[in-house]
Amino acid sequence: MIKVRKVGRIALGAKDLDKQTAFYVDHWGLGITEEADGKVYLRTAAPEHNAVTLGRAEETGLQELGLEVGSADDLERAATELANAGVRIEKVPGPADRPGAKRNLRLRDPDGNAVELYWGDDKVSEDYGDRNVKPLNLSHVVIRTTDVDRAYAFYKDVFGFKESDWNGHHMVFLRCNEVHHQLAFVARTKAGLDHVAFEVNDFMDIAKGVFYLGDKGVPRLWGPGRHGAGNNLFSYFWDPEQNIIEYTTDLIRIYDDSTWTPRVWPGRDTIDLWKQGPPPVMRE
Ligand SMILES: [Fe+2]
Repeated sequence: MIKVRKVGRIALGAKDLDKQTAFYVDHWGLGITEEADGKVYLRTAAPEHNAVTLGRAEETGLQELGLEVGSADDLERAATELANAGVRIEKVPGPADRPGAKRNLRLRDPDGNAVELYWGDDKVSEDYGDRNVKPLNLSHVVIRTTDVDRAYAFYKDVFGFKESDWNGHHMVFLRCNEVHHQLAFVARTKAGLDHVAFEVNDFMDIAKGVFYLGDKGVPRLWGPGRHGAGNNLFSYFWDPEQNIIEYTTDLIRIYDDSTWTPRVWPGRDTIDLWKQGPPPVMRE
């Protein structure tokens, strides 16, 4: 089994790259690290080279999920294990074919999502300037799947993710480190991105985001509220191409697996403990 250290990055297709870049920099609070080959590499306040890559494309949405592993050896082992498991590898391990990492490989998961395994994140030390809210890091990615059990089994068996909680039998929350969920899958009739969440300092940051983005005419989709599973405070918005993005804080950390028992949350009533139900687009 390959031990994934972190869900470190996501690549999104951008139909209008300039507009998407301006949104994520000016409104959402990210900073540009680098632009190359029709892609823009964006970072949070964390020192990693990029947490989000926007790539010019005909379709918006999930282009690639980036999972960090702990060493170059892990990447080599991953290639062997993936091949043995019959997983389609689209780039064999070698020097990274993008800025910001030393080595990577690429594969497809059972839903057909492109997944990058990478090692050797470049660090960026200089500050990228003031923003209304500066996300601290990429908190989690939620992906819609046509088979939630298959998705869970794949990420558990191949990458070592552990189940933290479920919403009914339609949403599984997975961890690969102490964060309650850096990855989750939700059962839907069509696979694709559900949402991308960015961690912020506290509820005051979420409130600042609500007011600032409201003032800028950015549509707020849901929240503020607090989820049952993960206990995190949230507010969801649309980006200009209708990707769902979230500011979140207070997400549970699990430092000792022996202290944690996954539970099945009943769903509709506990998905928002503040009792504002999810909007239709996020309803099961
Ligand atoms: Fe979320």
